[in-house]
Amino acid sequence: MAKPKGLESIRILSGRANLPLARRIAEILGVQLCEADAPGKKGRCYGPGRFPDGEVSVQIQQTVRGKNVFIIQPTSPPVNEHLMELLVMVDALRRASCREICAVVPYLGYARQDRKMTGRVPISARLVADLLETAGVDRVLTMDLHAGQIQGFFKVPLDHLRPDRMLAKYIYDHHRDWLANLTVASPDIGGVWRARRMAKRLGELLHKDGELPLALVVMQRDEERKKVVVKDVIGKVRGRDVLLVDDILSSGKTLVTAAEELAAGGAEKVFAACTHGVFAGEALKVLDTPQLQRVLVTDTIAHRDAVRKAPQIEIVSVAEFFADAIRRIHRHESMTDLLAYMPV
Ligand code: R5P
Repeated sequence: MAKPKGLESIRILSGRANLPLARRIAEILGVQLCEADAPGKKGRCYGPGRFPDGEVSVQIQQTVRGKNVFIIQPTSPPVNEHLMELLVMVDALRRASCREICAVVPYLGYARQDRKMTGRVPISARLVADLLETAGVDRVLTMDLHAGQIQGFFKVPLDHLRPDRMLAKYIYDHHRDWLANLTVASPDIGGVWRARRMAKRLGELLHKDGELPLALVVMQRDEERKKVVVKDVIGKVRGRDVLLVDDILSSGKTLVTAAEELAAGGAEKVFAACTHGVFAGEALKVLDTPQLQRVLVTDTIAHRDAVRKAPQIEIVSVAEFFADAIRRIHRHESMTDLLAYMPV
């Protein structure tokens, strides 16, 4: 298959974490996914295999010498498996003399462990950055890091895509009815800037001067009781529809606790937009509450059937966005409007 002009020296690879997304990105770029499989394995395969003892085994099946390689692999659960696959693939590529390796990690696992919150704990996000660099990545492309400062854990360039413009446009195109009476809220203090970006983007789309109103659910994690506890709601929510904006949906408890609190405070309908849908454990059951009308998540993480079919969940694809970013990185074009630096 002839590669589109300007993409002749590109190679797109995938680990096993999110093959549907990798396939879609390759399709948009008009290139074929490079096969990467266990050595000697027959038949087409696009992700590493396993030795009988569980160790990751991989052989890149096409030449990559002198090529720019993009490996698409979110480090989603099972996190350690996916991380190790990524590291081993990078090592294989480095030893196969490719030109540049870009780790495309749409969701970066371990990102919540970005500082010491108590004694004798690791800063695992930094360790992951070191591991990727030691393996040999030349750059990283990711989306909505838990904390933007994690960029600084990497010495190699890291392009940090923001999902707010894409999600705002999706809401504007598919759920215009949400916008008539909407307040945007963050379910925790650390995420206020994320909600504010969304409020600004939606305001821009509605041609309003300024942004949509903002609210904040002040929560604290009670480590002893292993639950989140609401301390306060700041901002006017009574009589308003509210869009909760968060980076990660894991157990679903943060969203549901916030939605219940907003409903108790007089909010009409509560929706949510989360970039990374981890859906850990019983998350689907937890989210099945009348207080939460609908939850948008992206496909930075591959979703199991139950998630895709859940009536309250709607999946927004990031494939076009990542394909555009990969094309620009490969062609050394500006990324500024994708990274969308926005003062908050
Ligand atoms: C926390 O700081 C994050 O931004 C999310 O709010 C959190 O990871 C969500 O986790 P869960 O769905 O388990 O409540």
